[in-house]
Amino acid sequence: MNNVVNKMELNNIPTDLRAKRCQHVSLEVSDIEKSLTFYRNFLGMKISERHKAGEHKNIPFEMVFLRLNNRHHDLVLTHDPMRKYIRKSQTESAAGIHHFAFECPNRDSFAAYLSRARQMKLEIVRGPVIHSSFHEDGDGTWGENESFYVLDPDHHRIEIFCDMARITDEGNYVNAYGVNVPNTFADEI
Ligand SMILES: [Fe+2]
Repeated sequence: MNNVVNKMELNNIPTDLRAKRCQHVSLEVSDIEKSLTFYRNFLGMKISERHKAGEHKNIPFEMVFLRLNNRHHDLVLTHDPMRKYIRKSQTESAAGIHHFAFECPNRDSFAAYLSRARQMKLEIVRGPVIHSSFHEDGDGTWGENESFYVLDPDHHRIEIFCDMARITDEGNYVNAYGVNVPNTFADEI
C-alpha cells in the first residue's frame, strides 16, 4: 500500500516542476572518428567540444559533445581507449539502448533525412513506417509518428521521426493535424 502511495506522489510532481523532456543521450562508441563522420554527415551535427581521455581527472575516456542547433549538446560520444570493444552479436549482448530518436521539425525535414539516408546508402532497417492503427497507412503500432530507422557504425539503432501524437491533460491523443485519435487514451494522466 505504501508503495502505491509513494508511486502516486511521484507521479504527481506538478507540471511546472517536472523535468521537461528526455534530452540527450551519451553513446559509447568503438571508433570516435567513424562515429563523428556518421553523425556529422548524416544528421548535420556540429562539434561543441572534444576532450581527450584523462584531460579531466574524473574522465578517463574521450568525449565529444555534439549539437543539432544551439544547445550545447544533444548527443555525447564517449570512447574508452582501455576498453576492448567487441561487436555485439545479434542474439547475445548486455541490455542497453534499443534505439534513440531525432525529431524532425516538419515533413519536409523528414523527407530530406530519408533521401539523405538513401543517398548515403545507409541501411534502413525499418520504415518509413507510420506508427498508427488510426492512419490509413499505419502499421498498427503506437505513437502516430512516421519514422525510419538506420544503424550507426556501432549498430546503435537511430530513429528519425516526425508527427508524434500529443497527449492532452485529459489523456486523449491528438495527432499532428489536430485530430483526436479514436480509441486511444494514455495509461496514466
Ligand atoms: Fe522510437
